[in-house]
Amino acid sequence: MRTYISDLKNHVGQTVELQGWVYNSRSSGKIKFLLLRDGTGMCQCVFFKGECSEASFDNFEKLTQETSVLVRGKVREEKRSPGGFELSAEAFEIISIAQDYPISPKEHGVDFLMNNRHLWLRSKRQHAIMRIRHTIIKSIRDFFDGRGFTLMDAPIFTPNACEGTTTLFQTQYFDDKAFLSQSGQLYSEAGAAALGKVYCFGPTFRAEKSKTRRHLIEFWMVEPEVAFNDLYDNMELAEQFVEYVVQNTLREREEEFKVIERNTEVLKKVRAPFPRLHYKEAVEIILKGNPQFEVGGDFGAPDETLISSQFDKPVFVHHFPTAIKAFYMKEDATEPEYSMSCDLLATEGYGEIIGGGQREDNLDILLKKLQEHNLPQSAFEWYLDLRRYGSFQHAGFGLGIERTVAWICGLEHVRETIPFPRLYGRLYP
Ligand code: 4AD
Ligand code: MG
Repeated sequence: MRTYISDLKNHVGQTVELQGWVYNSRSSGKIKFLLLRDGTGMCQCVFFKGECSEASFDNFEKLTQETSVLVRGKVREEKRSPGGFELSAEAFEIISIAQDYPISPKEHGVDFLMNNRHLWLRSKRQHAIMRIRHTIIKSIRDFFDGRGFTLMDAPIFTPNACEGTTTLFQTQYFDDKAFLSQSGQLYSEAGAAALGKVYCFGPTFRAEKSKTRRHLIEFWMVEPEVAFNDLYDNMELAEQFVEYVVQNTLREREEEFKVIERNTEVLKKVRAPFPRLHYKEAVEIILKGNPQFEVGGDFGAPDETLISSQFDKPVFVHHFPTAIKAFYMKEDATEPEYSMSCDLLATEGYGEIIGGGQREDNLDILLKKLQEHNLPQSAFEWYLDLRRYGSFQHAGFGLGIERTVAWICGLEHVRETIPFPRLYGRLYP
């Protein structure tokens, strides 16, 4: 009977067939060990001389790393074995022999591994990270779906900028030009008017010539938008959301966190509510560690670390200066030089994982903002309609999946958080 390694617990004492790839093999006289992976787990297959077929025993040395193989044998419980089960192997059939697999357990350089990303994904650590990423995404969807949100995805080809014109990728769109989406937000705002509570979830693009550990050219973002929420409702939603995603992932991926040796104790403290700082309060903290900081400006990564190191939970910074924020941010009526914006900074120096806020809902102010930002009104007429026909207070945010995966997994660089990263200077494989 064909089965998967993850299902072996249901087949103890039975003879089964596993199909997978050779992770490792070793021999010692009358006994040979094959560590098999099939994507669902790892299983040690033990070949005893006399108990398995003679041909299999004699051909064992052909099982090079990553050779694909079918193994038949009886399932035994074995606490010391990876996964807790072992196969007393009777025979194997080689499906395809792998020659000179380039990735070995020895240390490889980053560039080499990135060039072989399509193979690197087979390694234990990358496998664990991909599973954690999967669970983070599933938790994100479960959170919103469980609260009456409707998934309403935004287009990738867009006629206008959302986060500023300097980081737009332009492409040909038949006789027109189009841009790759920087954010689905503007469309989520239309969705909020139609469906009340919506989120979009998809790839977004930034033409940023940045080679930092947290910049991707193509990254995935989830963007909820809620009609009649203000900035404070927005932060409350964001903290409940982040708590849910972190705690649910910790619960469901215990094994994988062990594989990547993540200290999960620090993540267990990620419980709402999170501390909140006005931009002015955040600046006071920064100035103590970085007296050169230009008040009124945006935070650099080291500034964010100065702030987040004060707390063992993620921390909100809200009310960034209006001058440094996107055109759609609502100004605070009592202090218009500050905007109803909020960023969430992760713990352990991981920096911003969420950006969002309350949106400008006044048509005249929005028109003025478009002008100030040198954006063409014609491309935004549809967006302005949302203010012409029943304008409404609303707020939302965007969470970057890869920065969140890097934080939750405790990774040094976002390149390991996405199957095939697009980085400045890398478009292969
Ligand atoms: O702060 P950002 O630019 O906000 C927006 O795009 C809003 N329109 C979202 C909204 O309100 N609906 O991006 C949001 C998040 C950041 O906090 C970060 O996690 C991630 O997206 N992000 C990136 N991740 C990887 N590489 C990049 N180059 C990123 N730029 C932003
Ligand atoms: Mg931001």
